[in-house]
Amino acid sequence: MRLILIGFGVVGQSFAKLLLSRTADLYNLYGIKPRVVACIDNGGSALSPQGLDLNRLLDVKRTKGTVASYQARKDKFDSIHIIENVGAEVLIELTPTNLKDGEPGILHITTAMKCGKNVITVNKGPLALAFPSLIELARFNNVNLRFSGTVGGGTSILEFAKRCLRGDRIVSFRGILNGTTNYILTKMEDGLNFQDALIDAKNKGYAEKSPSLDVDGFDAAAKLAIMANWIMGMKVTIKDVNRSGISKVKLSDMQLAQKEGKAIKLIAKCNKNSLDVKPTYVSKIDPICVNGTLNAVTFTSEHSGQQTIIGRGAGGIETASAILRDLIEIKDTLTEKQTIRSLIF
Ligand SMILES: NC(=O)c1ccc[n+]([C@@H]2O[C@H](COP(=O)([O-])OP(=O)(O)OC[C@H]3O[C@@H](n4cnc5c(N)ncnc54)[C@H](OP(=O)(O)O)[C@@H]3O)[C@@H](O)[C@H]2O)c1
Repeated sequence: MRLILIGFGVVGQSFAKLLLSRTADLYNLYGIKPRVVACIDNGGSALSPQGLDLNRLLDVKRTKGTVASYQARKDKFDSIHIIENVGAEVLIELTPTNLKDGEPGILHITTAMKCGKNVITVNKGPLALAFPSLIELARFNNVNLRFSGTVGGGTSILEFAKRCLRGDRIVSFRGILNGTTNYILTKMEDGLNFQDALIDAKNKGYAEKSPSLDVDGFDAAAKLAIMANWIMGMKVTIKDVNRSGISKVKLSDMQLAQKEGKAIKLIAKCNKNSLDVKPTYVSKIDPICVNGTLNAVTFTSEHSGQQTIIGRGAGGIETASAILRDLIEIKDTLTEKQTIRSLIF
């Protein structure tokens, strides 16, 4: 399978390392021989129809700062030209999340699908802003659009809801969808104030320098919008989410919650009529009351009641494992299509 990687940061490099460590068993177990034929970052691109040497690509990125140094002559092709002209089955979109207009991710994804390429994205922006139209475009062009890594990192929250609960009807769900804010709130439970807990999260690499995406609830709201579309069939965007962040949570609120056997968590909640992200009192014995950077979601279904999935919500290698899951799925659907075609002709 020929892959184009667009973005080669934390997740892109983790994915390359994962491919290197899994080459043999990917073929033995799933019949997949992935070949990265193009890789693009802000500095340019590396191209090879035979497949890039991933060890060398990683080394070049580490030492020279851009994949463009992979070859002596730096290619000046822009990403759109590469997506349109390089032969590949799958585009993997790994550029930064932009929740204002979804770019450059939306353009990368739509261009790929329009020229018949399957897409895997871990970039939440395009889906949080334009989920229904992207799904429609994928159907129209008869390609797969997969996005397991956008919610829960490596924890298969989307697949759990969509597959394991198939046949039942999910009526609502609620949970913790952002590990950074959960870490900060956990530290506040231990006695740090919001500012000190935020500094601690930054020092540990859990929070960005400008942490608004996490602490103001945008990241959780984006994931909630994706889940509401995919799991509940709603046609919504991040703008439909009532959102408040955690920066106003005080130590005294925490202490009050603790006295009642509760904690304050940034809870994302979806039911038939509303989508909310806000700090909420949660009983300590509620299964979603997890600590540190963990994520947890409880699904309430018509027949099977409540079920909770818990796991690490982010991280390079965890998210790379979600990409691999998506890749295996795409391989299976392509094989199925081929089988049907050979039966017909
Ligand atoms: N990190 C996680 O744990 C995690 C988990 C789930 C989802 N995600 C999502 O996954 C995506 C990637 O995350 P990350 O942590 O890998 O981010 P990152 O380390 O910042 O990497 C982003 C990459 O995109 C490249 N890039 C930026 N703009 C570009 C453009 N216009 N054209 C081509 N390449 C461009 C950057 O190039 P340079 O290297 O040259 O700057 C960089 O290689 C984000 O959307 C993020 O929200 C991340």
